[in-house]
Amino acid sequence: MAIRIIREEGDEILKKKSREVENIDEKVLELIQDMLETMHKLNGVGLAAVQVGVLKRIVVIDIYEEGVEPYILINPEIIKTKGEQTVEEGCLSFPNKFAKIVRPKEVIARALNEKGEQIEIKAKDLLAQAICHEVDHLNGEVFVDKIIPGTLEIITAEQTNEKKEDRKK
Ligand code: NI
Repeated sequence: MAIRIIREEGDEILKKKSREVENIDEKVLELIQDMLETMHKLNGVGLAAVQVGVLKRIVVIDIYEEGVEPYILINPEIIKTKGEQTVEEGCLSFPNKFAKIVRPKEVIARALNEKGEQIEIKAKDLLAQAICHEVDHLNGEVFVDKIIPGTLEIITAEQTNEKKEDRKK
Protein backbone atom coordinates (compact mmCIF):
# COMPACT_ATOMS: atom_id res chain seq x y z
CA MET A 1 0.00 0.00 0.00
CA ALA A 2 1.09 3.53 -0.61
CA ILE A 3 -0.06 7.06 -0.10
CA ARG A 4 -0.83 8.65 -3.45
CA ILE A 5 -0.45 12.28 -4.38
CA ILE A 6 -3.71 14.22 -4.43
CA ARG A 7 -4.44 16.24 -7.53
CA GLU A 8 -5.51 19.68 -6.44
CA GLU A 9 -7.44 22.66 -7.75
CA GLY A 10 -6.12 23.85 -11.11
CA ASP A 11 -5.18 20.34 -12.26
CA GLU A 12 -7.06 19.76 -15.51
CA ILE A 13 -7.55 16.06 -14.79
CA LEU A 14 -10.24 16.98 -12.24
CA LYS A 15 -12.45 18.14 -15.13
CA LYS A 16 -12.17 14.88 -17.04
CA LYS A 17 -14.70 12.10 -17.13
CA SER A 18 -13.57 8.79 -15.71
CA ARG A 19 -13.99 5.50 -17.57
CA GLU A 20 -15.88 2.39 -16.47
CA VAL A 21 -13.81 -0.35 -14.87
CA GLU A 22 -14.03 -3.50 -16.98
CA ASN A 23 -11.78 -5.83 -15.03
CA ILE A 24 -11.21 -5.72 -11.32
CA ASP A 25 -7.62 -6.84 -11.61
CA GLU A 26 -4.59 -6.65 -9.35
CA LYS A 27 -3.88 -3.10 -10.44
CA VAL A 28 -7.39 -1.96 -9.59
CA LEU A 29 -7.26 -3.70 -6.19
CA GLU A 30 -3.94 -2.05 -5.43
CA LEU A 31 -5.35 1.32 -6.45
CA ILE A 32 -8.33 0.80 -4.11
CA GLN A 33 -6.06 -0.04 -1.17
CA ASP A 34 -3.94 3.03 -1.87
CA MET A 35 -7.06 5.20 -2.13
CA LEU A 36 -8.30 3.96 1.26
CA GLU A 37 -4.92 4.58 2.82
CA THR A 38 -4.64 8.05 1.28
CA MET A 39 -8.17 9.03 2.32
CA HIS A 40 -7.61 7.87 5.90
CA LYS A 41 -4.23 9.58 6.18
CA LEU A 42 -5.89 12.86 5.20
CA ASN A 43 -9.02 12.27 7.31
CA GLY A 44 -11.16 12.53 4.20
CA VAL A 45 -14.74 11.29 3.95
CA GLY A 46 -14.37 10.25 0.32
CA LEU A 47 -11.93 9.99 -2.52
CA ALA A 48 -12.40 9.37 -6.23
CA ALA A 49 -9.68 7.72 -8.35
CA VAL A 50 -9.38 10.83 -10.52
CA GLN A 51 -8.16 12.69 -7.44
CA VAL A 52 -5.07 10.49 -7.44
CA GLY A 53 -4.70 10.89 -11.19
CA VAL A 54 -6.45 7.72 -12.39
CA LEU A 55 -9.47 8.14 -14.67
CA LYS A 56 -11.36 5.06 -13.53
CA ARG A 57 -14.85 5.03 -12.04
CA ILE A 58 -13.83 4.05 -8.52
CA VAL A 59 -14.62 5.82 -5.25
CA VAL A 60 -14.00 5.10 -1.60
CA ILE A 61 -16.03 6.62 1.22
CA ASP A 62 -15.73 6.46 4.99
CA ILE A 63 -18.17 8.33 7.19
CA TYR A 64 -16.31 7.22 10.33
CA GLU A 65 -19.32 5.67 11.98
CA GLU A 66 -18.52 2.99 14.50
CA GLY A 67 -18.91 -0.48 13.10
CA VAL A 68 -19.31 0.74 9.52
CA GLU A 69 -16.60 -0.37 7.08
CA PRO A 70 -15.46 2.03 4.37
CA TYR A 71 -17.46 1.81 1.16
CA ILE A 72 -15.71 0.76 -2.04
CA LEU A 73 -17.78 1.61 -5.10
CA ILE A 74 -16.76 0.59 -8.59
CA ASN A 75 -18.77 2.02 -11.50
CA PRO A 76 -21.26 3.63 -9.10
CA GLU A 77 -24.57 4.93 -10.34
CA ILE A 78 -27.13 6.96 -8.47
CA ILE A 79 -30.47 5.46 -9.37
CA LYS A 80 -32.76 7.44 -7.11
CA THR A 81 -32.65 10.62 -5.05
CA LYS A 82 -35.10 12.00 -2.54
CA GLY A 83 -35.42 15.31 -0.70
CA GLU A 84 -32.80 17.97 -0.14
CA GLN A 85 -30.26 18.91 2.48
CA THR A 86 -28.21 22.08 2.73
CA VAL A 87 -24.82 21.03 4.02
CA GLU A 88 -21.26 22.20 4.39
CA GLU A 89 -18.87 20.52 2.01
CA GLY A 90 -15.16 20.28 1.37
CA CYS A 91 -12.90 18.22 -0.85
CA LEU A 92 -9.36 16.83 -0.55
CA SER A 93 -8.57 18.46 -3.92
CA PHE A 94 -9.61 21.88 -2.54
CA PRO A 95 -7.96 21.58 0.86
CA ASN A 96 -8.71 25.06 2.14
CA LYS A 97 -12.18 25.60 0.70
CA PHE A 98 -15.49 24.90 2.33
CA ALA A 99 -18.94 26.02 1.28
CA LYS A 100 -22.61 25.30 1.60
CA ILE A 101 -24.26 23.20 -1.04
CA VAL A 102 -27.63 21.61 -1.64
CA ARG A 103 -27.53 17.83 -2.00
CA PRO A 104 -30.23 15.17 -2.02
CA LYS A 105 -31.19 14.03 1.47
CA GLU A 106 -31.35 10.40 0.41
CA VAL A 107 -29.96 8.42 -2.48
CA ILE A 108 -30.02 4.87 -3.71
CA ALA A 109 -26.82 3.89 -5.50
CA ARG A 110 -25.71 0.78 -7.32
CA ALA A 111 -22.12 -0.26 -7.80
CA LEU A 112 -19.78 -3.19 -7.85
CA ASN A 113 -17.72 -3.97 -4.78
CA GLU A 114 -14.07 -5.02 -4.97
CA LYS A 115 -15.17 -8.64 -5.45
CA GLY A 116 -17.17 -7.68 -8.52
CA GLU A 117 -20.50 -8.21 -6.77
CA GLN A 118 -23.38 -5.86 -7.48
CA ILE A 119 -24.32 -3.90 -4.39
CA GLU A 120 -27.10 -1.44 -3.67
CA ILE A 121 -26.73 1.24 -1.01
CA LYS A 122 -29.57 3.17 0.53
CA ALA A 123 -27.92 6.27 1.92
CA LYS A 124 -29.00 9.37 3.76
CA ASP A 125 -27.44 12.49 5.24
CA LEU A 126 -23.60 12.49 5.14
CA LEU A 127 -23.35 9.23 3.21
CA ALA A 128 -25.82 10.48 0.58
CA GLN A 129 -23.84 13.72 0.32
CA ALA A 130 -20.55 11.84 -0.04
CA ILE A 131 -21.88 9.53 -2.74
CA CYS A 132 -23.14 12.51 -4.76
CA HIS A 133 -19.85 14.38 -4.31
CA GLU A 134 -17.75 11.40 -5.41
CA VAL A 135 -19.95 10.46 -8.37
CA ASP A 136 -19.66 14.10 -9.49
CA HIS A 137 -15.85 13.67 -9.51
CA LEU A 138 -16.22 10.71 -11.88
CA ASN A 139 -18.10 13.01 -14.25
CA GLY A 140 -15.46 15.74 -14.05
CA GLU A 141 -17.55 17.91 -11.75
CA VAL A 142 -16.28 19.55 -8.59
CA PHE A 143 -18.26 20.92 -5.65
CA VAL A 144 -17.04 24.51 -5.94
CA ASP A 145 -18.99 24.86 -9.19
CA LYS A 146 -22.29 24.05 -7.44
CA ILE A 147 -22.09 25.89 -4.15
CA ILE A 148 -24.62 28.33 -2.79
CA PRO A 149 -23.31 31.76 -3.83
CA GLY A 150 -21.69 33.73 -1.03
CA THR A 151 -20.98 30.73 1.20
CA LEU A 152 -17.40 30.00 0.15
CA GLU A 153 -14.95 30.01 3.05
CA ILE A 154 -11.22 29.92 2.50
CA ILE A 155 -9.47 28.80 5.63
CA THR A 156 -6.04 27.83 6.93
CA ALA A 157 -4.70 24.28 6.97
CA GLU A 158 -5.05 24.24 10.74
CA GLN A 159 -8.73 25.18 10.62
CA THR A 160 -9.24 22.50 7.95
CA ASN A 161 -7.90 19.87 10.34
CA GLU A 162 -10.16 21.12 13.12
CA LYS A 163 -13.17 20.79 10.85
CA LYS A 164 -12.22 17.22 9.98
CA GLU A 165 -11.73 16.31 13.63
CA ASP A 166 -15.15 17.80 14.49
CA ARG A 167 -16.78 15.70 11.82
CA LYS A 168 -15.31 12.53 13.30
CA LYS A 169 -16.84 13.18 16.74
NI1 NI B 1 -13.87 15.76 -3.61
